[in-house]
Amino acid sequence: MKVYIILPMFASAILTALYGIDDYAKRAGKMYFGTAANLPTGGAINDKYYMAHFNNTQNFGQTTATNVMKWIYAEPERGVFDFSLGDDFVRLAEANEYILRCHNLIWHEQYPGWIDTTDWTKNALLEVVRRRVKETITHYGDICYCWDVVNEAINDDGTYRQSIFYNVTGPEYITVAYKTAQRTIAELGLNVKLYYNDYNIEYPGTKATAVQEMIVKSLKKSNIQLDGVGLESHFIIGETPSMASQMQNMADFASLGVETAITELDVRALSLPLTQAQKTQQIIDYNNTISACAMSKSCIGTTLWDFDDTYSWIPSTYVGEGYATPWYQPGGANTPLKKKRGIYAALVNAFNRQIGTGK
Ligand code: G3I
Repeated sequence: MKVYIILPMFASAILTALYGIDDYAKRAGKMYFGTAANLPTGGAINDKYYMAHFNNTQNFGQTTATNVMKWIYAEPERGVFDFSLGDDFVRLAEANEYILRCHNLIWHEQYPGWIDTTDWTKNALLEVVRRRVKETITHYGDICYCWDVVNEAINDDGTYRQSIFYNVTGPEYITVAYKTAQRTIAELGLNVKLYYNDYNIEYPGTKATAVQEMIVKSLKKSNIQLDGVGLESHFIIGETPSMASQMQNMADFASLGVETAITELDVRALSLPLTQAQKTQQIIDYNNTISACAMSKSCIGTTLWDFDDTYSWIPSTYVGEGYATPWYQPGGANTPLKKKRGIYAALVNAFNRQIGTGK
């Protein structure tokens, strides 16, 4: 009797030791399961427990820099490029042979201060956008699986976001950025995909429709290259879109000829500590999102926006909120990580159910 109980437990323990989330994602036909990381800036680089998990190639097959590839780091003075922090991140990724999503080229945050203090003509600002795109894509070359070329350019109500780029150039900065990216990868013969990345477009609605019309269809109508749409997926416990609506949304984008990816997943609690009911709901929310990607052919992979609560962006942006990622450090930074078992199992099972289905 005992043997019957112990054997399956033994088998599952061996499987847990042999396979991680990325292994299951790949066996389910996905390109990767990955995590973003605030490296080498931030304290995580000095946390050996965090780094051991970041370097676990069973769980992760892809990474994204949460900060250091952004414009603010790369062009501190106009025309003076410095990719050294981004290069450090690339070395960390390459040591694990991680696929790199490169993030991002043009965004209304974390761009250099000199852009705000210059009195721009439209042509001068467009020229600066062109140079940022061309120099950066050229520098990183084929290291990047893709670039988030323009990030978060649309408001929740479906209008263009007011930013220095929009205010000076209108929507032209968007077409100029993609045209320049397209020309650069063609000239250099690179194999780099061009993405648009945004939040609140993970379910059908005003904003998703606006991105489909104003970004995807608009670029494609002008024969400008756009290969993918990144669905950020910064969700809240209990307010995460259903599996069905996320799948419908992925299909809507796919019908326009782009792939999709979940690019910045976390599911946060609005207050701490969580009740048991909130923890259960969080597992359901993670399952809904990962399953939607696992079951949608157009969704090529999922990226967590960091995997450990200690280094998640949420507590510093939304004070008092958090518990958003699948791991935590009960003893704080520089102490062993603990996985949130229910979330981890939900991620593994979501992929496991798809193995052999061809999705
Ligand atoms: O580099 C400075 C450091 O010198 C200073 O001492 C420190 C003090 O606060 O701040 C450091 O800069 C911080 C930077 O992250 C690097 O750690 C900024 O204050 C902080 O605002 C910035 O936050 C980043 C945020 O983008 C900026 O809006 C988050 O780490 C990053 O995770 C977040 O990522 C974005 C995606 O790029 C796009 N989608 C939304 C997502 C979450 O906001």
